[in-house]
Amino acid sequence: MLFERPDTGERAVLVHIDFNSDTEREDPQEFRELVRSAGAESVGFITGRRNAPHPRLFVGSGKAEEIRELLQAQEGEVVLFNHSLSPSQERNLESELKCRVLDRTGLILDIFAQRARTHEGKLQVELAQLEHMSTRLIRGWTHLERQKGGIGLRGPGETQLESDRRLLRARIKSIQNRLERVRGQRELQRRSRKRAEVPAVSLVGYTNAGKSTLFNTLTTSGVYAADQLFATLDPTVRRLVMPDIGPVVLADTVGFIRHLPHKLVEAFRATLEEAAKADLLVHVVDAASEERDDHREQVHEVLEEIGAGDIPVLEVFNKIDLLNQPPRMERDDPDGPVTRVWLSARRAQGLELLEQAIASHLVDELVEKTLRIPATDGRLRARLHALQAVAAEHVDEEGGFILDLRLPRVDLERELAAAGWDRAQRRQWLGPSIYDD
Ligand code: GTP
Repeated sequence: MLFERPDTGERAVLVHIDFNSDTEREDPQEFRELVRSAGAESVGFITGRRNAPHPRLFVGSGKAEEIRELLQAQEGEVVLFNHSLSPSQERNLESELKCRVLDRTGLILDIFAQRARTHEGKLQVELAQLEHMSTRLIRGWTHLERQKGGIGLRGPGETQLESDRRLLRARIKSIQNRLERVRGQRELQRRSRKRAEVPAVSLVGYTNAGKSTLFNTLTTSGVYAADQLFATLDPTVRRLVMPDIGPVVLADTVGFIRHLPHKLVEAFRATLEEAAKADLLVHVVDAASEERDDHREQVHEVLEEIGAGDIPVLEVFNKIDLLNQPPRMERDDPDGPVTRVWLSARRAQGLELLEQAIASHLVDELVEKTLRIPATDGRLRARLHALQAVAAEHVDEEGGFILDLRLPRVDLERELAAAGWDRAQRRQWLGPSIYDD
């Protein structure tokens, strides 16, 4: 790993600016938690308001002076911004403040670096760090590593800088090659799982929603869960046997976060790939959080971005102990699978409902029925053929089609509904579902 971390938390001055436009808005509370997660000690918090970032220093010169004074008074070692800084803003601030300056991306990367556990995760983080750094390389990438906060920026000379650049490029290339190989191995593992037809379930959710806690409770595997953001970086995959389903592969994934810079999403692609290939996503939500709906929205956006937008989602509203609510299940469509389970991962309340809900998504209730379709309804017939649900077919005297069907009940219900059958008609013909309460 590139960054050697000091044993004690670095003394950090935090800077958070409110902008009048909504798009730049970051949450100061979440910022404090990110800083805590990074293991830094907050020794001062500076806020301000601007219409737009200042091109040279991000903040105005008066604000920069305020930061400098606080740094001195508090003997701060690093300044952390709750915003994205351009490489030149970061550079200008470092020379103005005479100490290390980290923007939001740098801070998140630092947390990732501390949390990475597997070989692949570590490679990914190092790659993202190198790429983030390469845009910021001015006097050699070694100066940030060696220099302690507060000491002047005396980097190596120009020749050193050139060889540093070469070194950096070579290192990036070598990591990319190694990542390719590791990814190839993962793909093989995934394919062998697919062949064995073990359904894959991935836990996704905003950071701190309780994914690792739920994963632990479900697998009792002792995966690290801590009250820190990003306690999970690498997908931790376990095979478990669930009632009514049989073996299932369960993966815990890295927590999502607002304004995760796009290049970080890219850098952690393999981590999220596990989610993109799942049969079912279990979206864990901190039901007690004031930002609940906002966080859900963020997660949906990231899922779209990584190409997982079409995978069925079961929502888990976690932490009901904080809301004094009993465990329960909800369905948006009375005939469909469960939409949402309210539970407490920490207290292990409602887990049996979760298992039932997962089963309602994964276990196909197969229907074998004979259906007559009038000659005029070619569309329904074509759809059923497309689903490969027709075991045999013949035509009666009136030109109608008699189809012997074999398909999952959810698919049949959906097609019949599209063909105009209402719920009562479907129930009458199909009988009750095994998932009826
Ligand atoms: P990241 O790794 O950051 O993505 O977080 P995560 O979603 O894996 O969250 P984690 O399981 O680490 O839980 C975050 C915090 O919420 C921890 O302090 C948990 O103890 C707490 N927590 C999890 N489940 C519950 C719950 O049901 N009730 C309460 N009160 N707290 C919970």
